[in-house]
Amino acid sequence: MTYQMIEMHNQFPEVGIESIGLYVPRYFVSLDDLAHARGVDPMKFSVGIGQEQMAVPPPDEDVVTMGASAAHEALRDVDTSRIDTLIFATESGVDQSKAAAIYVHHLLQLPRRCKSFEVKQACCGSTAALQMAMAMVAQKPDRKVLIVAADVARYGLGTAGEPTQGAGALALVISAQPRIMKLESEWGSYTEDVMDFWRPNYLDEAVVDGKYSIKIYLKALSESWAQYTEESGLAFADHHRFCYHLPFTRMAEKAHRQLVKLTDQPEVHPEHYEDALHYNRVIGNSYTASLYIGLTSLLETTESDLTGQRIGLFSYGSGCMAAYFSGIVLPGYREALRPDRIAAQFQSRHRLSIEQYEEYYTHELPRDGSRYVTTAHDTGQFRLAGVEGHKRLYERAESLTVRAREPHIAVAM
Ligand code: HMG
Repeated sequence: MTYQMIEMHNQFPEVGIESIGLYVPRYFVSLDDLAHARGVDPMKFSVGIGQEQMAVPPPDEDVVTMGASAAHEALRDVDTSRIDTLIFATESGVDQSKAAAIYVHHLLQLPRRCKSFEVKQACCGSTAALQMAMAMVAQKPDRKVLIVAADVARYGLGTAGEPTQGAGALALVISAQPRIMKLESEWGSYTEDVMDFWRPNYLDEAVVDGKYSIKIYLKALSESWAQYTEESGLAFADHHRFCYHLPFTRMAEKAHRQLVKLTDQPEVHPEHYEDALHYNRVIGNSYTASLYIGLTSLLETTESDLTGQRIGLFSYGSGCMAAYFSGIVLPGYREALRPDRIAAQFQSRHRLSIEQYEEYYTHELPRDGSRYVTTAHDTGQFRLAGVEGHKRLYERAESLTVRAREPHIAVAM
């Protein structure tokens, strides 16, 4: 289908992704190192799971600082006075009541009229936010909505889930002036009450039934694809590339094989999904951000021109809710992306020893309201300076190199 034909196919006003910001913590663990430390064959992680590295946030980063850094990048060429709503999607929230969005709103000095709130449904929270943003923009096309998706995936030291940890943040500006991707209006959804992965309020790590979660993921893919194709009249062949929620990159292969089988394709073409995997292979799972980091990887690393091509997107959130939807890549999309900045982020990361990773992993903030100042690490634009009286205190980071400086507390409110 040509771009013009695809345009005619869609009656929905032009709403889509205007800009993208990605932030990855500056520390990582090599999964080869982890395999050696845990007495596992490294091939299990690199081939069986499909992961090379996992990003690890230092003690002075959390979803607020990561999300604010990603949003800062996404807003670089955007008129922030038009940001009408900020939706923060996370399942690693820092407060049961106050939205992480409010801290980000303050750190980025967004207009007071900008509504700011948090949403949750495991990894699918960001997709729920996207659908909400599309409706908001369609209703009033001069508004822009900022979506921030940020998470830290934690399963516990030495568990089967450990090599599928990771962390990262991705921000999207959704508007009626999309420069990267137009989002289509036909969606397939699936909800079922299942216990494949969850995290009770009193735990810091997820509880997971790993093998079952993979089965449910694949079931939700079939079901949401069925509704999506019924509603849109589109078939497998109408899609040029496929992006899947990526708890680990091998999952995309499993998902794509299933879609190929379901739609009676003669064979699997790995090029249909492989370029979406590059970033996640070295970041790991970032829950709400994961699918959209995959999309960014696809757009930034595919050598051929994707203009006018339809990309299929599958979002899965344990528990579970899933969605299948699609978008059309817009002319000039490459100028709106920043692969140089993302490459620089990857190149400047520090490799942690397993001992350092375990130290970061087990670091805890006081729970009794006492004052605590975090040691400064290499972070993005913002950092968690400490806590005092049960309040989290954020500040703008001074430089992007590891610092040993006198910690100082700045109240971010
Ligand atoms: P496990 O039991 O450690 O691994 O759990 P395994 O024994 O199943 O091995 C994994 C693969 O490695 C297998 O391949 C092995 O054959 C292979 P497969 O059968 O899948 O084709 N393997 C090897 N390959 C090469 N050389 C070797 C070797 N040894 C084994 N020497 C599991 C793996 C992913 C289940 C675990 O890590 C886990 O529980 N992870 C967390 C849960 C998860 O990621 N679930 C995914 C679906 S749910 C989801 O995506 C939602 C989520 O993002 C959360 C949210 O929504 O918020 C998680």
